[in-house]
Amino acid sequence: MIDTGDFGIHDGISEVIFTTLSKDGKPNAAPIGLHKKEERLFAMIYNSRTLENILGRPAAAANIVDDPVLFVQSSLCDLEPERFEYVDGFPVLKDALGWILFDCRCKKGEKISLVELSPVDGKINQRKIQPVNRGFNAVIESSIHATRYVVFKEKKYLDSIEYYNTIVKKCGGAREKEAMGMLYKLIGITE
Ligand SMILES: Cc1cc2nc3c(=O)[nH]c(=O)nc-3n(C[C@H](O)[C@H](O)[C@H](O)COP(=O)(O)O)c2cc1C
Repeated sequence: MIDTGDFGIHDGISEVIFTTLSKDGKPNAAPIGLHKKEERLFAMIYNSRTLENILGRPAAAANIVDDPVLFVQSSLCDLEPERFEYVDGFPVLKDALGWILFDCRCKKGEKISLVELSPVDGKINQRKIQPVNRGFNAVIESSIHATRYVVFKEKKYLDSIEYYNTIVKKCGGAREKEAMGMLYKLIGITE
C-alpha cells in the first residue's frame, strides 16, 4: 500500500514530471500538476502526447524532481532516451528524487481530460533538506508560461517570462540560470 504523503504529496497541486509510454514503446516526459483532494488523486490533462499515451496504456509515473533544467526540457522538448530507466518495463526518470506509479482511469474531454490516479508502486531515491529558492520557483512559473507561449504566441506570456527571469537572475543559482537560458532558446527568443 503506497502512502503518497510519504512522498511529500499533500492536498493541493504538486508539480511533478509524468512519464508515460506510447503504444509503440517510446517513453515520454512532461510536467503535470498532481492534484490531491482529501485522499483522491487526479490530473487534468490537455490534449498532448502524455494524454495520448495514457489513453493507449493507462499508466503514468509521477516523478518528483528538483532539477530546474529537467522541468524546462521536459516542458518544451523530448528528453534523451538515456534520461529514463525502466521499472518492470515502465519508464521513470533516473534523476527523480522518487517516483509513484499510477494506474489511470481517464474521463476524456474535448480539450481537457480528467485522469483519476491509483498508486500501485513507488520508490524514494533521495531525501533532501531543501530551503525555498525563489529562483527555482520562478523557473517553474516561466516554464508554464513558455508552454502556453509556444501554442498561443501571445506577448503576455513573454512579459511574464521576462518578469520571472528577473527573479531567477536575483535569487537563482547556476542551474536555474542554465534552465532559463535553455527556455529562451527553446521558445526561439533571445534573452
Ligand atoms: C510546472 C508545469 C505544470 C504543468 N501542468 C500541466 C497539467 O497539469 N496539465 C497539462 O495538460 N499540462 C501541464 N503542463 C504543460 C505540459 O507539460 C506541456 O504542455 C507539455 O509540452 C506536454 O508535453 P507532451 O505533449 O509531451 O505530453 C505543465 C507545464 C509545467 C511547466
